[in-house]
Amino acid sequence: MSHPEPAPTLPCAPEAVRRVACIGAGVIGGGWAAHYLARGYDVTAWDPAPDAGPRLRRLVEAAWPALTRLGVAPDASQDRLTVTETLEEAVTQAQFIQESAPERLELKRELLARIDEAAPSGVVISSSTSGYPMTDMQTDCADPGRLVVGHPFNPPYLIPLVEVVGGTATREDVVEWTGRFYEAAGKSVITMRREVPGFIANRLQEALWREALHMVAEGEATVREIDDSITEGPGLRWATMGPMLTFALAGGEGGMAHMLDHFGPSLKSPWTRLEAPELDKKLYDAVVAGCDEEAEGRTIAELVAQRDQGVIDILRATGRLPRFPEGGVAK
Ligand SMILES: NC(=O)c1ccc[n+]([C@@H]2O[C@H](COP(=O)([O-])OP(=O)(O)OC[C@H]3O[C@@H](n4cnc5c(N)ncnc54)[C@H](O)[C@@H]3O)[C@@H](O)[C@H]2O)c1
Repeated sequence: MSHPEPAPTLPCAPEAVRRVACIGAGVIGGGWAAHYLARGYDVTAWDPAPDAGPRLRRLVEAAWPALTRLGVAPDASQDRLTVTETLEEAVTQAQFIQESAPERLELKRELLARIDEAAPSGVVISSSTSGYPMTDMQTDCADPGRLVVGHPFNPPYLIPLVEVVGGTATREDVVEWTGRFYEAAGKSVITMRREVPGFIANRLQEALWREALHMVAEGEATVREIDDSITEGPGLRWATMGPMLTFALAGGEGGMAHMLDHFGPSLKSPWTRLEAPELDKKLYDAVVAGCDEEAEGRTIAELVAQRDQGVIDILRATGRLPRFPEGGVAK
């Protein structure tokens, strides 16, 4: 009688990981690399683009001043980044693998199967996907049980949240291990109990963006007015308290119950359009031009620096600077 192969065991405790591989090193993979380096990990990275190495090093270098202001691990160094020629070299010594390749299902399926083939047995492979369920991506892997989603927010070196969720073939101990790993790596983790397209935060963000695009398309608000309406309004509250508790306070002493009695019926009023707007050329051009106008000549690099400083100020003001087990503190 034949017995099924036992599931490979996880090679080390999540807190013991020292070497991380980043596969795909664009905005998100590069941001992850910067984060892991700042937390004192050794990072190997692979990306097939011919200019990927210098581009990645530029991204890490640009992020480093912000990371230093935030506080880096005592042994953190950009020199601990190795860019490899092949995917296999990048993953062969890795104790955790973060995939951040383009958001195309077929590409992710093939790439994750390649990583699974090359990676040491049992090492967890986590995808940065913005919305594909792992169930649809792990189909071609020999060991699909070790694949999980670890969805970050841009830039991963500053925004704490990671949404963790497994697919139907993912082992439960892998999901649990991954959540603990991200926490050890300084992230805030939400582990989802079931797969939901867009996870939690992207579903919320997309709803807001969809309404914003409708308002631009219909000439109801400019790009700048939409941005100001958040940064000068609800955005200030959301950095310290989420939309639910914020609304509970809007109900005064009656809290959320009063809020629901008072404003619940108006949810059925036509405040939302529900369907996505047609992204025709007119809307496309209006949104791009609106962003250019709002930037007032600031380059993308300047805007990145401004955003990073703003996020650091908020993290500092709300007592959310990184802490290191060694007792290192932010400057
Ligand atoms: N940009 C965001 O705000 C954001 C946020 C969260 C998650 N994500 C997700 O992160 C992933 C990467 O997105 P991004 O914004 O960094 O895109 P990007 O275009 O900036 O980077 C993608 C990188 O993947 C490389 N690449 C191309 N083919 C590859 C392959 N076969 N194997 C490995 N690498 C390959 C490209 O050269 C490029 O450097 C996507 O799944 C995306 O949905 C993006």
